[in-house]
Amino acid sequence: MVHFSDFDTRGYRTVDVATGYGQWVETYEQTVEDVMDLALLDELTDPRWTSVRRAADLGCGTGRTATWLRRNGVPAIDGVDLTPEMLDRARARGVHDRLIEGDVRATGLDTGAYDLVIASLIDEHLPELRPFYDEAWRLAEPGAACVVVAFHPHFIMTTGMPTHFTSGTGESVAISTHVHLLSDHITAGLGAGWTLAEMREGVVDERWLSVKPKWERFRHHPVSVAMVWRKKV
Ligand SMILES: C[S@@+](CC[C@H](N)C(=O)[O-])C[C@H]1O[C@@H](n2cnc3c(N)ncnc32)[C@H](O)[C@@H]1O
Repeated sequence: MVHFSDFDTRGYRTVDVATGYGQWVETYEQTVEDVMDLALLDELTDPRWTSVRRAADLGCGTGRTATWLRRNGVPAIDGVDLTPEMLDRARARGVHDRLIEGDVRATGLDTGAYDLVIASLIDEHLPELRPFYDEAWRLAEPGAACVVVAFHPHFIMTTGMPTHFTSGTGESVAISTHVHLLSDHITAGLGAGWTLAEMREGVVDERWLSVKPKWERFRHHPVSVAMVWRKKV
């Protein structure tokens, strides 16, 4: 097991997920770059988004992921998140059919009710991946896809940077961050029963450098990764 503390170069004060996102909510939408996750979703060839009937959006946050899904033809989306303030923003956005305050590892959503389970930018907050992949499997109907977009472990390790935000007082605050090697994802996903269908890695490129010029030293380093899993029947 790899621990973030072995790589931490920032030493920020660390808070738990609900505390962190409860405060970050004020500036979250302005600080998360679409190139991190939505650009990877744009590149996937599987699933065919217009064929999806009902999606479970795990760690739905303010509804960025669901907004992208709606724009790409997904007609019905249920969201789960454990931070009430993030859910309030999602509710105001109105892109979900249902919003539930809960944990992605035990959502309370119906078994086998979804042909897409998606979780974007949440895995680094989970100490273990297997409970997430097990719950996604439970929610998925036969043939369903599970799309996971993650903060790349290489980038967390190379930069020593946790998921963090700037508080109202200007302090940099870390949200509890765990490093999952790509093989941790593969082992957990396969162990839960999933078959890997597609995988893409996003690197620091011109799109990134136009919004983060200071990242020139990380040019071409992988910063995020998308995995598409299938529940083969
Ligand atoms: C970086 S945000 C991502 C939100 C959204 N998917 C997006 O791409 O903008 C991470 C979200 O995951 C939620 N989260 C983290 N761990 C969770 C857990 N175990 N169960 C439910 N939600 C969780 C946080 O509350 C936060 O809203």
